Amino acid sequence: MKLLDIYAKMKSDLDVLEGQLALSVTSDHALLTEASTHLLKAGGKRIRPVFVLLAGKFGQYRLDVLQRIAVPLELIHMASLVHDDVIDNAETRRGQLTVKSKWDNRIAMYTGDYIYGKALSIVTELNDPLIHQILSKAMVQMCIGEMEQIRDFFNTEQSVRSYLLRIRRKTALLIAVSCQLGAIAAGADRHIANRLYRFGYNVGMAFQIRDDLLDLLGTEKQIGKPPGSDIRQGNITLPVLLALQEDGGREKLLIEINKIRESDGAGDTKRALNIIRKSAGIHTAEAMAARYIDKAIDALRGLPDIPARKNLTDIAHFVAKRNY
Ligand code: IPE
Ligand code: IPE
Ligand code: MG
Ligand code: MG
Repeated sequence: MKLLDIYAKMKSDLDVLEGQLALSVTSDHALLTEASTHLLKAGGKRIRPVFVLLAGKFGQYRLDVLQRIAVPLELIHMASLVHDDVIDNAETRRGQLTVKSKWDNRIAMYTGDYIYGKALSIVTELNDPLIHQILSKAMVQMCIGEMEQIRDFFNTEQSVRSYLLRIRRKTALLIAVSCQLGAIAAGADRHIANRLYRFGYNVGMAFQIRDDLLDLLGTEKQIGKPPGSDIRQGNITLPVLLALQEDGGREKLLIEINKIRESDGAGDTKRALNIIRKSAGIHTAEAMAARYIDKAIDALRGLPDIPARKNLTDIAHFVAKRNY
């Protein structure tokens, strides 16, 4: 089934989540409400809530319980984006102005914090310390991942291993716990929750590799921001690291990256992008993403053969090839 068909099948439950999301960021503070609603309304794939709901199908599916996981997960993701756009100095996200650019960095700081706070207030309605622990650990890891990204800006000597560790922290773990917590909140068997965690982790790794590829290959319309944003900001991603390992292009690419660095965010990324796009790094990164998808699908084997399992498989295939 295509992704849009999966979403269509879940529409009535996703509509409930959408309503809850809008409600959750509404408060009597006009500016915080407005800034959060701005990002919410800009759209997004809502992939984490979808994973929560599908994982919940492996236990006792109760939307009133699952929404208290799904809404906080989307909020935590959103809050991280508001802060990420400050760090990455990004002007647009989801095709709209970022909070930091429509308002400013100070407003973005507290909008992010506000959204985190709202996430916590909802998830703590579930009286289960295990859920709170799993979620808070994932949030801590995400901060570490983002800090490591800042540390490694323009570090062309970093290893592929350190890139993988960073994306595990900043992206994959939150997707892993979306799947795991959906199962736990639905009272599914521990082995099922563990398998779903493994599925989410591997999908999450592929998801970020694909995100990094899209930043190099996508059009502004597809990705909602100008391509080349990562390298302009100094975020050296997997295809770039791989391209830097190639004898042919390495020296030329290093020169271009250095120029971008010296231009302090204003430089032209066109030549660097051209070198990277022609490199084998693109194909190797695609192959690595595909391998994570295989592992994700492998993790689903042994789970009860319910429609949700097929949906998760189809979403995994989508992630590896997505263009948005
Ligand atoms: C963007 O996440 C940031 C990453 C972790 C790659 P998404 O691609 O899920 O962003 P939205 O929510 O659809 O905008
Ligand atoms: C993902 O990283 C952001 C977080 C996990 C917080 P990116 O920096 O690649 O995300 P985009 O590309 O800005 O959406
Ligand atoms: Mg970013
Ligand atoms: Mg990105």
